[in-house]
Amino acid sequence: MIDIHSHILCGIDDGSRDIEESVKMLKAAKEAGFEKIIATPHVMRAGYDLDKTKKSFEMLLPYAKEIGIDIYQGYEYNCYALSDDGFEGAMKFCTHQTKTILLEFKSTVGFPTNWESIVMNFQREGAKVIIAHPERYIKTKLDFEKTKRSVEMGCKLQIDGLNLFRKGFMNKTKRNAKKLIKSGLVSWIATDAHCEKDYIEFGKAFKDKRNSRWFKPNKIEDYSAFYG
Ligand SMILES: [Fe+2]
Repeated sequence: MIDIHSHILCGIDDGSRDIEESVKMLKAAKEAGFEKIIATPHVMRAGYDLDKTKKSFEMLLPYAKEIGIDIYQGYEYNCYALSDDGFEGAMKFCTHQTKTILLEFKSTVGFPTNWESIVMNFQREGAKVIIAHPERYIKTKLDFEKTKRSVEMGCKLQIDGLNLFRKGFMNKTKRNAKKLIKSGLVSWIATDAHCEKDYIEFGKAFKDKRNSRWFKPNKIEDYSAFYG
């Protein structure tokens, strides 16, 4: 099992605070059944510190090897950083050695008015676009149509697994996530884990047989097509 969305690197964003927490996350991820994790810190503005990220990644690497998890460097790229980076500049935030970009829209806004042009410009750069947690964006029926249209344009969708199962937590988001899965639009369920607890909760939900039908996405062929 691969987790394509995780804030496991410490000291970079609102995810893991220190190396101890990152190691706890690795252990909980292993326990949940993950063998590969793409570390995806938030990129939200210009001047993103790539060196700091590299150091954090390299610090975690030996622990990951010891625990038996392959980690890869990726990013969660917020479309608002485009005004500083441009599309060519944003390509450095693709997952390691691929042209796959995990693209995030602002949760409070959803699909921005120019979302189609954003997707097309990335595709012109040769990028394969994965849209992060669209269940958070579809506030209206209209946004569901946009989500569907993004798949028709060649994007893949990634749902946050915890949005499917957390009790009493953002029911609208839960309904949206389920609707997208039922519609066959989702390629990946990831954790979007920010702490150890997120991996523990994900593991519990994953191992609960009553939830098995929701875990059907995570298509291996999509993985090779999108990450090589
Ligand atoms: Fe995230």
